[in-house]
Amino acid sequence: MLITGASLGKRQEGGAEIRNPKSEIDEGRRRDMTYGWEGEKVRLVPLDRDKHLDNALKWFNDPDITEWLETGDWPLTRGAEEDFFRAAERQDRVSVQFAVESLQGEHVGFSGLRSIDWQSRVAVSGSVIGRKDLWSKGLGGDAVTVRNRYAFDVLGLRLLIASVIAGNSRSLAMLAKAGYEEAGRVPERYWKRGAYRDQILLALHRDG
Ligand SMILES: CC(C)(COP(=O)(O)OP(=O)(O)OC[C@H]1O[C@@H](n2cnc3c(N)ncnc32)[C@H](O)[C@@H]1OP(=O)(O)O)[C@@H](O)C(=O)NCCC(=O)NCCS
Repeated sequence: MLITGASLGKRQEGGAEIRNPKSEIDEGRRRDMTYGWEGEKVRLVPLDRDKHLDNALKWFNDPDITEWLETGDWPLTRGAEEDFFRAAERQDRVSVQFAVESLQGEHVGFSGLRSIDWQSRVAVSGSVIGRKDLWSKGLGGDAVTVRNRYAFDVLGLRLLIASVIAGNSRSLAMLAKAGYEEAGRVPERYWKRGAYRDQILLALHRDG
């Protein structure tokens, strides 16, 4: 099925509605809204150094946030994060990174796709809600739902893979709710915070 910008707005699989702000602006209904892909609680917006880089530095150097992340046990310098933003700005089509903002425009996290394989139409997905005070309020799940609809309906991908360190119960609960299913496990793949831990691979197919 060919999905146009207008029909995207009506598609509601997975719970969250993706609106197409441009078409709505064109229709003159929401001239003042921020741009981005919008769900019920959050909006995915392009990375902006002025608005998002300091939070990235703060969040990815926070041991609570990186407790179950593959990265984060090595200090993240401003230079390294600037390099990450520079790479995202090049739009190499191998990865796409969004900042996650509340509908009021407050920066709350990041969500993206990496290792995009256009031949097989597969990507690896990942998300962080950096505002710990907002965990378990559905923001991560909404961001994942919108990001996945973007991956499937806008980019035309067919399969998303998530890699989770065993023990990351919040992430596993969020991904299960979004429809991901365990597809494999690498025993004791990671040394993480004092123990070897399994890598859990989860898969989400566009058409179930
Ligand atoms: C993982 C993360 C993105 C989830 O974001 P979030 O906004 O808290 O997610 P949601 O609120 O949508 O969903 C979390 C779910 O976990 C559940 N949960 C919370 N604590 C839990 C726990 N200790 N054990 C099991 N489930 C738990 C919540 O109840 C919620 O499920 P529900 O919607 O059925 O109630 C966020 O916690 C985070 O950024 N953590 C640090 C980085 C990280 O681990 N990222 C994922 C890498 S794979």
